[in-house]
Amino acid sequence: MYRKWVKIALVAVYLVIIAGAMVRMTGSGMGCPDWPKCFGYYIPPTEITELEWQPQRTFKKGQVIIKDETLQVAAKDFTTGESFSEENWNLYTKHDYAIFNVWHTWIEYVNRLFGALSGLAVFIMALFSFSQWKYSKRIVLLSWLSVFLLGFQAWLGATVVYSVLSPLKITVHMVMALVILAVLLYLLYYSRPKLRTFSISRGYTNLLIFALLLTVAQVVLGTQVREFVDEQVAIVGDQAKSLWLDNPDLYFYIHRSFSIVIFLVNLALWFFNKKHSYGLNKINMVFFLVILEAATGIAMYYFDFPFLSQPLHLVIASLLFGYQFYVVLQAWKRHRPDFITRQV
Ligand code: HEM
Repeated sequence: MYRKWVKIALVAVYLVIIAGAMVRMTGSGMGCPDWPKCFGYYIPPTEITELEWQPQRTFKKGQVIIKDETLQVAAKDFTTGESFSEENWNLYTKHDYAIFNVWHTWIEYVNRLFGALSGLAVFIMALFSFSQWKYSKRIVLLSWLSVFLLGFQAWLGATVVYSVLSPLKITVHMVMALVILAVLLYLLYYSRPKLRTFSISRGYTNLLIFALLLTVAQVVLGTQVREFVDEQVAIVGDQAKSLWLDNPDLYFYIHRSFSIVIFLVNLALWFFNKKHSYGLNKINMVFFLVILEAATGIAMYYFDFPFLSQPLHLVIASLLFGYQFYVVLQAWKRHRPDFITRQV
């Protein structure tokens, strides 16, 4: 049962990453100006009129309206009179972004729902982890660590909104997502039912670790490229896709060239796995994902960001990291507990 919940939690976290990538593609990051509620509601508005001041309308404390391009928050539960009276409202001060776009609001809201669901899944997983206490305390501790990390990630998500999508915060948010994936994958590996040993050379294991580190570096570089693209979108507009990377900065060239190194290292891993019959089947998937990742990158640069290329690039990067991390665990003999053969 525990392991089933580790899998559910992992899928849920990937769903959040997919939803997050859609938020990014559609530019919906500010769809909900506040957090965790959305315009002060558990279920956000569908019409702009719901965010307008009207006479004889009842507001609950915390609900938001847009007035003269500012966000105003109801200071208490009250019903409006015939004219707007300032003492009932507080100016929202965390940022001054005050635009309502129903699509952006609902895409961001679905993203948050997935976030909440993943929180629930990880929490249930952690509850089930107590069943493993007598076999492995590590499982319990790491399960609760992932609950904490997810909470931290949610808080980071809030600071991303409050900072009106500051690039550094988006990067930290992305790296934290990889850390959460790593902990869950470790739990998945550590609680696996069948003990399978791979006899792999130390050199090959080191190359696997190197390849994983290259991917992490490439992800961080990628977020810098993304930041540059964001700046260009702000300058030339979101329709002028051919101009986004017309004159890219150094980060882009490093990111592009670095993927050649990544390709070659993973090609070598794929080749030696076959040659020495190591049996690490997931390496095939890793190599396939590297090719797909490069293909979506090439599509963005040379074919002006075709539909879905941005979210695919991001989602494939996180899948690639996940598979590589799992293969590193398989190759790393020291973490092979024997209690598992008995239980889980
Ligand atoms: C294995 C190789 C690669 C990995 C792991 C990787 C990873 C990433 C990541 C994680 C991002 C950030 C995405 C985001 O935050 O939305 C990114 C952005 C980007 N990458 Fe890559 N990338 C790779 C190869 C390439 C290649 C070969 C190209 C182009 C020739 C490329 C072009 C881009 C572009 C244009 C962006 C900005 C995307 C955006 O604005 O949404 N990447 N990359």
